[in-house]
Amino acid sequence: MNWIIMTLSSSIGKKLMMTLTGLGFIGFLTAHLVGNLTIYGGKDSFNLYAEKLHTMGALITLAEYGLLLFAIVHITTGTVLFFQNFKARPDAYVVKKNAGGRTIGSMTMPYTGFLILLFVILHLGDFHFVDKTETTIFHIVASTFASPLYILIYTVAMVVVAIHVSHGFWSLFQTLGFNHPKYMPSVKGIGIFLSLIFGIGFGFLPLYIAFMG
Ligand code: HEM
Repeated sequence: MNWIIMTLSSSIGKKLMMTLTGLGFIGFLTAHLVGNLTIYGGKDSFNLYAEKLHTMGALITLAEYGLLLFAIVHITTGTVLFFQNFKARPDAYVVKKNAGGRTIGSMTMPYTGFLILLFVILHLGDFHFVDKTETTIFHIVASTFASPLYILIYTVAMVVVAIHVSHGFWSLFQTLGFNHPKYMPSVKGIGIFLSLIFGIGFGFLPLYIAFMG
């Protein structure tokens, strides 16, 4: 227990925690997106994918607990970092210039992070904590996206996810020591590419289901 407190109280320890858990989330989002792309194959292909996933039983439960632990660490550490940065910047109210690598992504990390937390709570209520005995997962998803409000919430949430990932990816590579002028432009480019893949890949699903499904 002591090492957790020690790690979380050092600056590099907190950054490493954010990096480790951030990498975990990128892995999860990639797997989740690949699985969700089966929606484009129609309702049977999506239901088959979900069925296969659930036959993995204990492995999925283990992954879910791992994801929950990562979320707790990421949110706690991120919140501590946010308040520490806030206290360390008495000029926080002064108009910030876009200098020294500050971008919309970097300046909004705590806020996009908080919005993603709200989205995930809503999302788990929509698709995870629902009775699936008398229905299919495709039917649940299609009924959700029959509502224009839900299409709007999900589409906006995917833009927020894309903004968060674009800076998070860059930031985690910086923590890992890749902050060399030679590599950083490529890392930044890959981060933007990845955020576009997540934003577009997830973002078009609600629209596709609503209009073509
Ligand atoms: C349009 C976009 C998305 C769709 C259609 C979608 C769909 C789904 C569905 C159908 C499930 C339930 C799977 C099952 O239990 O069979 C699920 C679970 C989940 N989704 Fe999404 N998802 C989307 C985007 C996201 C994003 C962007 C995140 C994270 C920021 C996310 C996080 C999760 C989590 C944490 C679970 C629970 C996983 C588990 O416990 O096994 N989803 N999603």
